[in-house]
Amino acid sequence: MELKVTTKTNQYPIIIENNFDGLLSAFENTGLIGRKLCIVSDSNVAPLYLDKITDMFKGSFIKVVNYIIPAGETNKNLDTIRDMYGFFVQEQLDRRSVLVALGGGVVGDITGFAAATYVRGIPFVQVPTTLLAQVDSSVGGKTGVDFNGHKNMVGAFYQPHFVYINTSVLETLPKREFAAGMAEAVKYGYIIDKSYLKYIADNSEAIKALEHSAMAEVVYGSCKCKAFVVDRDEKETGLREILNFGHTFGHAVETLSGFKLIHGECVAIGMMAGLYFSMKRGNITAEELASAEELLKYFDLPVRVEGLNVEDIFKQMFYDKKTKDGKLNIVILNEVGNAYTEKNASDDEVIAAIKYIVE
Ligand SMILES: NC(=O)c1ccc[n+]([C@@H]2O[C@H](COP(=O)([O-])OP(=O)(O)OC[C@H]3O[C@@H](n4cnc5c(N)ncnc54)[C@H](O)[C@@H]3O)[C@@H](O)[C@H]2O)c1
Ligand SMILES: [Zn+2]
Repeated sequence: MELKVTTKTNQYPIIIENNFDGLLSAFENTGLIGRKLCIVSDSNVAPLYLDKITDMFKGSFIKVVNYIIPAGETNKNLDTIRDMYGFFVQEQLDRRSVLVALGGGVVGDITGFAAATYVRGIPFVQVPTTLLAQVDSSVGGKTGVDFNGHKNMVGAFYQPHFVYINTSVLETLPKREFAAGMAEAVKYGYIIDKSYLKYIADNSEAIKALEHSAMAEVVYGSCKCKAFVVDRDEKETGLREILNFGHTFGHAVETLSGFKLIHGECVAIGMMAGLYFSMKRGNITAEELASAEELLKYFDLPVRVEGLNVEDIFKQMFYDKKTKDGKLNIVILNEVGNAYTEKNASDDEVIAAIKYIVE
């Protein structure tokens, strides 16, 4: 399967397969062979997939080198970037050289930022290996690193030459990470595409079993939804805000839970708050709220949080990056498959939604 993403500055394909067999021809088709290539990966992904890819590339590139980052968000910082630049200089990478991000969102964000900035920008390719990266972070062109403990403080908008998604790599992904990716996939259904949501609900068993055709549909549908929004709002001025559905509540829970819950899990909880809010406004039915809960639970996602205080969550929400001028902007649904940013949410409505998700 292939999806074309159009941005103001260029167009690139997202190729969805269940193996790496087409990766080299994707390089050929985009004119990126015969150069120096650096594959960036992390310490979990590299032992699983790096050798296979490196071997496949030998003969088609002037030189293939690897750069492996220790796995984890704590390494998504400028120290890692500096070390990478050092390696690139040592390996004499130049403006024609290509970077490949083989890994999850952490590797993708770091590699994209290194590509955007090294010698003022070199081509890069995304080969996302987590479900979150396949359905979310590899699409949209946001790259960057954390700075002094602040997430994604430093970065650039920079598009890859192409994205190659092999859904079979999800077989080695820890179950919790898979569930976290499903939260974002379900999110697209609620905010943009009702028929996509129905597909997920109707094929939930096949998806959980990682059947290729079902996974390809899930990834394709999510990328299509995200690309649709990003095409219309590349630099995040308005429409793109709807991608934050569940996130304002979710980020607060994520922070207050001391990061015991991972991002996608908090998004699932946050979506329940957003859906409850939407129901209270009369925009969705109680049945629709109940079926959301059922679907998220089926994918082993939490829908409530224990041990947190309602008032603390409410206060924490004002620290969200997307909160403008001290006013809460809450993404809610007009109906299933259609979302907007509610700029006039009353404190009572927000608190009622928080109460709904606190056990
Ligand atoms: N650029 C964007 O638009 C955007 C959007 C959402 C999230 N993000 C960023 O993405 C990051 C989170 O990404 P993530 O959830 O992919 O985390 P991650 O990259 O840390 O990957 C999660 C874990 O899974 C491991 N892993 C990856 N693929 C594997 C595989 N196939 N088999 C076994 N293990 C595997 C990783 O080594 C890591 O331990 C955050 O830094 C977040 O800020 C960026
Ligand atoms: Zn998210």
